[in-house]
Amino acid sequence: MKPIQVGLLGIGTVGSGTFNVLQRNQEEIRRRAGRGIEIAMVADLDTTRAKQVVGDAVKVVGDAREVIANPEIDVVVELIGGYGIAKALVLEAIAAGKHVVTANKALLAVHGTEIFKAAADKGVIVAYEAAVAGGIPIIKALREGLTANSIQWVAGIINGTTNFILSEMRDKGLDFDVVLKEAQRLGYAEADPTFDIEGVDAAHKVTLMSAIAFGIPVQFDKAYVEGITKLAGADIKYAEQLGYRIKLLGITKRTDKGVELRVHPSLIPAKRLIANVEGAMNAVVVNGDAVGTTLYYGKGAGSEPTASAVIADLVDIARLHGADPAYSVPALAFQSHTLAAAGHELPVLAMADVVTSYYLRIRVADEAGVLAKITTLLANAGISIDAVIQREADEVGGEGSTQTDLIILTHDTREGDMDKALAEIQALSTVLTPITRIRKEELN
Ligand code: HSE
Repeated sequence: MKPIQVGLLGIGTVGSGTFNVLQRNQEEIRRRAGRGIEIAMVADLDTTRAKQVVGDAVKVVGDAREVIANPEIDVVVELIGGYGIAKALVLEAIAAGKHVVTANKALLAVHGTEIFKAAADKGVIVAYEAAVAGGIPIIKALREGLTANSIQWVAGIINGTTNFILSEMRDKGLDFDVVLKEAQRLGYAEADPTFDIEGVDAAHKVTLMSAIAFGIPVQFDKAYVEGITKLAGADIKYAEQLGYRIKLLGITKRTDKGVELRVHPSLIPAKRLIANVEGAMNAVVVNGDAVGTTLYYGKGAGSEPTASAVIADLVDIARLHGADPAYSVPALAFQSHTLAAAGHELPVLAMADVVTSYYLRIRVADEAGVLAKITTLLANAGISIDAVIQREADEVGGEGSTQTDLIILTHDTREGDMDKALAEIQALSTVLTPITRIRKEELN
């Protein structure tokens, strides 16, 4: 059979990894796919650099639309990123009857409904294994391997930059700003790392996993997103003393009332495997009613790890090219006509309706009755306390300090009730600085 013809849009880090791995492993990949996979054309604004990567055998152009217009191309691999030109090109490629492989989580999390519908109408595949957790085959696992299950929840460390920063903060006892600069110097964090550190990148990824896990439309606009910029070294230290680690988690959970969809720093028990995922690595935990809890670990970014995911999609497409579209796995795992209704039955919950437990750090004047007032306000809001620790004032504020930190762990409570209680506690004259609140997940 003729090799499937691939056009790459963008040949930066992931594109060159894709080219190199396809070259290196071409024989094994051909034996698996049943036909060759050939990069026939590459579009990149920097044609000189592109030619250095692919040599003379591959046609290099500066205009992506030349790739889309080429009738010989069967699959377009979009590695440009972002919502702008990438969206237009993906939709044009679909309209031209090409299958699309993309690593673009931002595009799919925000415009997935439109893109998947366009692909279904045209009978082509949009594949996106590389969009979530890089080289970890989590889309394959959720869509196919766990297809027997009613998925209960998914929780993942799905942003390597922030996990590197949190690991360094814990290891070296440093504050966020210092480690961010180090991450930028080492090339882990972008010059503009906003999407990483504010949790947006993780929210794009968990939005996609939520849709696949529960058979609901992609709804990035309903995700709760909180990054790591306000985390203090002190919280990481206190968490550790209590037997927890702080990780930026993307969480999506099925509840009786709907689906939780949220990204925020979370305390997780240090004894969980996922708590020990360090540096820029990613990991995703999935709980299904039949299988129980499963864990997937690996590199969430980088040239060849991400290429590994891109090529897995290319192999799937090579096997299915020309087949009746009904044979392909639905883009979001569930038959598309069932998504909207499921989205109504399982709405994404407002953060006020999310139920979780909390770590609170409250800087207080070290005087009689302070703790009693705070615990009374929590009790009035129906919030049950799991543990209270009061630090030595000297340890917190130095010799002779009149301030101290109260650390309170609560049992599960509605976020809306916690908001109300915290507003009242914050208003006490003996509470000296803004209260730190970090959600806690037992993941059991
Ligand atoms: N910026 C992402 C991360 C890379 O830090 O994990 C791939 O999505």
